[in-house]
Amino acid sequence: AREMLVDKKFGSAGQKIIVEECLSGEEASILVVTDGENIVPLVSSQDHKRAGEGDTGPNTGGMGAYSPAPVVDDALFSEVMESVVKPTLEAMKKEDAVYKGVLYVGIMLTDDGPKVLEYNVRFGDPETQVILSRLKSDLAELMLATANGDLSGVELEWDPDEYVCVVLAAGGYPGSYEKGKEIKGIRDAEQEGALVFHAGTKLQDGKILTSGGRVLNVVGKGSGIKEAVKNTYKAVEKISFDGMFYRKDIAHRAIARVKA
Ligand code: GLY
Repeated sequence: AREMLVDKKFGSAGQKIIVEECLSGEEASILVVTDGENIVPLVSSQDHKRAGEGDTGPNTGGMGAYSPAPVVDDALFSEVMESVVKPTLEAMKKEDAVYKGVLYVGIMLTDDGPKVLEYNVRFGDPETQVILSRLKSDLAELMLATANGDLSGVELEWDPDEYVCVVLAAGGYPGSYEKGKEIKGIRDAEQEGALVFHAGTKLQDGKILTSGGRVLNVVGKGSGIKEAVKNTYKAVEKISFDGMFYRKDIAHRAIARVKA
């Protein structure tokens, strides 16, 4: 509070504080696309918001994700659709604000059932990196059908493999960090079969340099979460830049479920 209100760490964005009920539990991200009438669900995923292993340290924009999130079973998914997604879209319609596009519902699975943490009217980052990597249907056709009110009967095809995204961040993030560090090994990571998405990078004199807090997203896959994690970290280890850090435990909850 002092950093925000007195030191003005976030400038004008940090001048107001809202005190909310503290919700404890496991988080999950449920995304759908809607044309205002029809709702097409996307596959489930889970973000890792804290900077450090074991969900410790400061909150970040997201340090990694995986899909599917086994905590979102069919019963939970139906509950969120019936008690959150459908009423939300209905209420928007009643307010003459018919919504077409991606609706992202961030939920906390508390002992009292799922509670909404946040809505976003966009894809999630880094959830999108794993969700869209699994999508086998044509994204452009899906977006066009969404805009044209044409989603009736649309069923999406997904890769049944499990996907993991590890965010490579600049030392100091989410606090202050340096930029302009040369990044090496992206090709080698891709040769391991990973997809490497750029976030905070820039091309200068033929070199790829860091230019943000969350620098790269490395996405790997496997048949089962353990294989997906192993393949992803094998690719991550090929990449380096001065000060680079990443969480070593992405998908730990899904792995614990496999062990349980
Ligand atoms: N991953 C959280 C968000 O995109 O807001």
